[in-house]
Amino acid sequence: MTDKAFGFNTRAIHHAYEPQDHEGALTPPLHLTSTFSFETAEAGSELFAGERSGHFYSRISNPTLDLLEQRIAVLEGAEAGLATASGMSAITSVLWTLLSPGDELIVDKTLYGCTFSFMQHGLAKFGIKITHVDLTNPNNLEAAINDKTKVVYFETPANPNMRIVDIATCVEIAHQRDIKVVVDNTYSTPYLSRPIELGADVVVHSATKYLGGHGDVVAGLAVGSAELIQEVRLFGMKDMTGGVMSPFNAMLVLRGLKTLSLRMDRHCSSAMKIAEKLESHSAVVNVSYPGLKSFQQHELAKRQMSNFGGMIAFELSGGIEAGRTAMNKLKMIQRAVSLGDAETLIQHPASMTHSTYSPEERLAHGISDGLIRISVGLEDEVDIWADLEQALKS
Ligand SMILES: Cc1ncc(COP(=O)(O)O)c(C=O)c1O
Repeated sequence: MTDKAFGFNTRAIHHAYEPQDHEGALTPPLHLTSTFSFETAEAGSELFAGERSGHFYSRISNPTLDLLEQRIAVLEGAEAGLATASGMSAITSVLWTLLSPGDELIVDKTLYGCTFSFMQHGLAKFGIKITHVDLTNPNNLEAAINDKTKVVYFETPANPNMRIVDIATCVEIAHQRDIKVVVDNTYSTPYLSRPIELGADVVVHSATKYLGGHGDVVAGLAVGSAELIQEVRLFGMKDMTGGVMSPFNAMLVLRGLKTLSLRMDRHCSSAMKIAEKLESHSAVVNVSYPGLKSFQQHELAKRQMSNFGGMIAFELSGGIEAGRTAMNKLKMIQRAVSLGDAETLIQHPASMTHSTYSPEERLAHGISDGLIRISVGLEDEVDIWADLEQALKS
């Protein structure tokens, strides 16, 4: 089944797979093989030369990964997809492909800690200049661009403080100068927002999160034009990172995609209620959740996302010490990094996911030391709130 006219859920379940081509197996076979045998020596040479289609080594392609790549591409509205070992491997494979020494990369002020670290301590070491600008105001992008700028990169909503970037406006500015736009869509998933349809060139994902959805896999995905994704496959991933996804993990992400919309609907509705309750709690000084009317970019979030996601950032009046005390009192909610799982997870970015920033960098990049991040899970929303409420009493 390949018909793009089907709805999101039908595509998430059926796209690019026909059981009758696989002995009737309803669930796609898992191709646990590192290599593929060639019918003849000539056939092998043709595969290597790109003159014949097919698989020859699983660092380059594999049928189970291929199915996942087609599914994420169709869900994101892109021509092609690439499955990688982790979200970081998707990000690094894409950027090693798009950038060369001497190039400049413009990124938003706030990024996931390891993405920040890869750019600041990795790309910069190889002669690529990183410029952080506040992309919540697209005029800043216009002002920061110069002849060496090759890529604009941002997350929306951003991890951990939920800043939203106007994708279409940034794309318009970047494309006037032939600059590629890469968007990390981990928080939204294609169910809530599709940057490619707004003109972005590449979307990257930590599929470890909502796409996998069950906290049992580390995985990454990238989508974009067929030409660009092929370049990333044959250079960024094959030669630079070697960060290929295992077929077993591809199977887990394929399974996760089948229930993505159901899970996202529940993440969104519970997060909205929890955010409202947090906002009216006396111990809480601020709550960042795009669905709240008080959220600075609520109108943009409404335009750009079909719902507001499952992630909330908040601060307690007693700062980080009060936050630690409350986190330690939790009984059901788990103190853990990662996000998008069935379990509600809570963590402290400054000392955990964003400890890759120095304290001065965190200050400059809008990640306050008192910020607490919750990934609202799929448990009963009343139980999530009851646990938070008893912990906040302390
Ligand atoms: C927004 C975002 N992008 C990328 C990553 C990296 O993904 P992974 O942990 O799968 O390498 C993360 C991980 O937390 C993330 O939150």
